[in-house]
Amino acid sequence: MRVIFLGPPGVGKGTQADYIAQSYGIPKLSTGDLLRESVAKETSLGKAAKEYMNRGELVPDAVVIGLVEEKLGSPECQKGFLLDGFPRTVTQADQLSTYLSSRGEGLDRVVYFSLSKDEIVRRISGRRSCPDCKAVYHLESVPPKKDGLCDACGTPLIQRNDDKPETIESRLAVYQEQTAPLIEYYKTRKILGELDGAGLVSAVQDRLVALLAQPRVE
Ligand code: AP5
Repeated sequence: MRVIFLGPPGVGKGTQADYIAQSYGIPKLSTGDLLRESVAKETSLGKAAKEYMNRGELVPDAVVIGLVEEKLGSPECQKGFLLDGFPRTVTQADQLSTYLSSRGEGLDRVVYFSLSKDEIVRRISGRRSCPDCKAVYHLESVPPKKDGLCDACGTPLIQRNDDKPETIESRLAVYQEQTAPLIEYYKTRKILGELDGAGLVSAVQDRLVALLAQPRVE
């Protein structure tokens, strides 16, 4: 299965991506995670990306496309993949389509996660992440068992730099301007399925599994 998770920041894409990648046995490629890893390692790519990310802006297309194509070319992605947070611009979507066509492949499904703005802001404001194993929590809805510590590895949890209140609004504006046009882009290609992102993680997961089981969403 070759699938894309599309939607505004904080809607719950990453939370659901981990579960789907595991249960379908496909690799999850999160451009946000890959970029944060490069920033943490202070690679030249990470240094170039850091300021864009901290301002809540998109990293330039050429940088992200190169990163994704390198990953998609790896043996583990030959039987399928889940792209979380890519593409985010029409240029990225066009480039992905060209790349997959050159391999004789296409996308099976694009899942568009929808949610009210108030709930998005609540989810982003309360998010805490493990800088080591990348597990994601929420202070109220998905709290760690021990206050401030990752359940999986015990590392102290952090708040992402771009999850600060002053950056949330700009990320939402960037999403509206540059990424939301992809909803129509994939709708016209008849591979878009809309998922209501509201409710418990388990309820969203059930709806998502049902959506992915449908042969095609028209
Ligand atoms: P990225 O990391 O992709 O951020 P994003 O798309 O803004 O998505 P988020 O990680 O904020 O949210 P999510 O939808 O995954 O939600 P989550 O599951 O964590 O990108 C970061 C930056 O990198 C970008 O701003 C840009 O600079 C750069 N970048 C990345 N990709 C790029 C690209 N393709 N091109 C250019 N630049 C790029 O959930 C959020 C919170 O809610 C968590 O606390 C979670 O525990 C909680 N939660 C989840 N589900 C539920 C639920 N059902 N009920 C209650 N709480 C829930």
